[in-house]
Amino acid sequence: MCSIIGYKGSDHASSVLIEGLKKMEYRGYDSVGIATIKSGKLLTRKGVGKVAEVNKSLRLDELPGKLGIGHTRWATHGGIVDHNAHPHLACNSTIAVVHNGIIENYDELKEELNRSGHKFKSETDSEVIAHLLEEYFEITRDIRLSMIFTCKRLVGSFAFVAVFNSSTLCGARYDEPLIVGVGNDDYFLSSDILGFLNHTDKAIFLDNRDIVVINDSDISFFNFDGDKISRKITQVAWELGDADKGKYSHYTLKEIHEQQQTIVKSLEQDKKNLENFCNVIAEAKNIFITGSGTSYHSALLAKQILSKSKIHVETIMSSEFQYSSDMLDENSVLLAISQSGETADVMESVKAAKDMGAKVLSIVNIPTSSLARLSDSYLEVNCGPEIGVAATKSFTSQIALLYYVADIIGRKSNGIIDSKEILTKSVSEVLELDSQIERVANQIKDSKDVYILGRSFHYPVSLEGALKIKELSYIHAEGMAAGELKHGPLALIDNNSIVIVIHPNDSTYSDTLSNIHTIKSRGAKIVGISNKRNDVYDYQIIIPTISEFLYPLIEVIPLQLLAYYLSICNNANPDYPRNLAKSVTVK
Ligand code: G6P
Repeated sequence: MCSIIGYKGSDHASSVLIEGLKKMEYRGYDSVGIATIKSGKLLTRKGVGKVAEVNKSLRLDELPGKLGIGHTRWATHGGIVDHNAHPHLACNSTIAVVHNGIIENYDELKEELNRSGHKFKSETDSEVIAHLLEEYFEITRDIRLSMIFTCKRLVGSFAFVAVFNSSTLCGARYDEPLIVGVGNDDYFLSSDILGFLNHTDKAIFLDNRDIVVINDSDISFFNFDGDKISRKITQVAWELGDADKGKYSHYTLKEIHEQQQTIVKSLEQDKKNLENFCNVIAEAKNIFITGSGTSYHSALLAKQILSKSKIHVETIMSSEFQYSSDMLDENSVLLAISQSGETADVMESVKAAKDMGAKVLSIVNIPTSSLARLSDSYLEVNCGPEIGVAATKSFTSQIALLYYVADIIGRKSNGIIDSKEILTKSVSEVLELDSQIERVANQIKDSKDVYILGRSFHYPVSLEGALKIKELSYIHAEGMAAGELKHGPLALIDNNSIVIVIHPNDSTYSDTLSNIHTIKSRGAKIVGISNKRNDVYDYQIIIPTISEFLYPLIEVIPLQLLAYYLSICNNANPDYPRNLAKSVTVK
C-alpha cells in the first residue's frame, strides 16, 4: 500500500528518495512521485507506473536539492492517473505533501477550501492536507502551528509528510505508521524502516498524534495539542534490510524455500516471555483470535490446534470484528495475528477489544509494528522480511508458533519442539517436489476453477491454498471442507473441474477418499496431496509421513508452489499481484 519517504540532509535527496521507494515497492502501488526543494523552489515530478519505469521516463532522480519527499500511491480516492499521484502541492507551490491513509472528511474540507479560493488539481482526499497547511501558514506564518491546526481538522487515518520551501521537513501520524530515521547528518521520514535502513539503523517510532518538525537547526516533536514531547531512538536490526532475491527469480519463490529454516526458527522464543503469553491465554475466560487474509487462516488453524489442548476459542475475521466486539469484556483475551502488524482491519479490532476492557496479545513478524506496540504482550515469528505480497513463510511460522503455544498451555510433552528435526527434514523433502509441482501447474494452467478440499486441520489449509492460487495466478479457486461438497458445491463439478485434495493418511483419510470417488465419478481431475500413493489421483504429490497434527506445516507448501508456478504459467508477477498490497492500511 502507499509508501512515504522524506529526506533532509547532505546527500542528493532525489536519489535517496528513489532508493527508499524501491525498497518499499513490495507494499504494492500504482503510481510514484517526488518533490524536492532547491534554492527555495519546489520541484516535482510524478506519474503512473513502477518506480523504475517512471524514473526512466521522467528522471525523478535528477531533481536537484538536499530536501525532498517521495511517494508510491495505491489508489483509493480518484483514478490511477498522473495528476492523482503524490506529491500534492498547495496553490502557491511552496508546500508539497505525500499522504498514506484516508481522510474521511475530505469532501467537507474541500468545499470549505474551495470557498476560500483554493484550487484543487486532483480527485484525491490527500490534496486537502496541502491546502489546509497553506491556509494555516498564511494565517500563522508558523510551520509548527500550521501542522497542529491541520492535524486537528483531519478525520480518518493518516501519516503524511510535508516539505515547506523554507527548507523544513515535517510529518504527522494518526493510525498509519511513520518512522523517523536518524543518520549522522541527515533525517528520514518513512512508512517503513526499509525506506532508510541502507543509511541508518537508528529509528524513532512516532506514536499516534505525533508531529515532527525538522529544520536546519533541530528536530522537534509535538502532539496535536501543541505540547512538546520527547521520543526515544531505537536501534533496529540491520538484517531487516537484508532482502534480496538471491538465486531465485522471485521473492515469493525464495520465501517459500526459506521455510526450511523459518518454521523452526519461529520456535526460538524467550522462555519467560512465552510463558507469560501462554499464562494470559490459560487464565482468560473467553479467548478470541483475529486476523486478515492468510493470518485469518492461521487463526482458524489455531482454533483447532488449541482445541486439542482443551482450550476453546472463537475466531473472528478482522474485517468483521467490529460487528461482534460486544462479546468481549474485561475477562476476555484477543489474540491478533498479523505478519505486518499494520493491517488496518486488525488494528481496528484490537482497539475495539481494548475499548471493551479485553487484554490484547499478538503474534507478529515486525516487532516494531503498530500492533506489537499496542499489545499487552506479543510474540515474534522471526521469519525475516517477507517481500512477496502473498504471505507464505509467515503463515507456516505463525502456525508453528501456535503449536508451541498450545503445547505449553496443554502441558504437552513430545510436542512440536521434539519434532524439530523431523520437521526440518520433511520440509526439505517437500521443497524438493518443486519441479514436479511446476509440471502439474503446466497441466492445469488453463483451468477456470480450482477446488481444494480438506477435512479437520486440512480445511483451513484448503482455504489458504485457494487464497494463494487466487492471489498469484488469478484463477478462481475455492477451499472447502471436504464433507460440505455434497451440500451444494458438487453441482459445479464436471469433467472440466480440477479438484485438489489434501489427503494424508490420517484420521480423515477414508472419509475424504469417499468424497474423492464422488467427484471422480463426475469427471473431475484429482490432484492428490498425500503421503500415500493412490491410483484415484490423476496427479500425485507425495509428501513425507509426519505426526498427524503437524501436516498443515508441510502440506501447504505444495499449494504455495503450485500457486507460484500457475502465476508464472499465466504470465503474472507473483511478487506483486494486481490490485493487491502487502500491508493493507485502509479499512
Ligand atoms: C493483505 C495481503 C495478504 C495478507 C493480509 C494480512 O491483504 O495481501 O497476503 O494475508 O494483508 O496481512 P497481515 O500483515 O495482517 O498478516
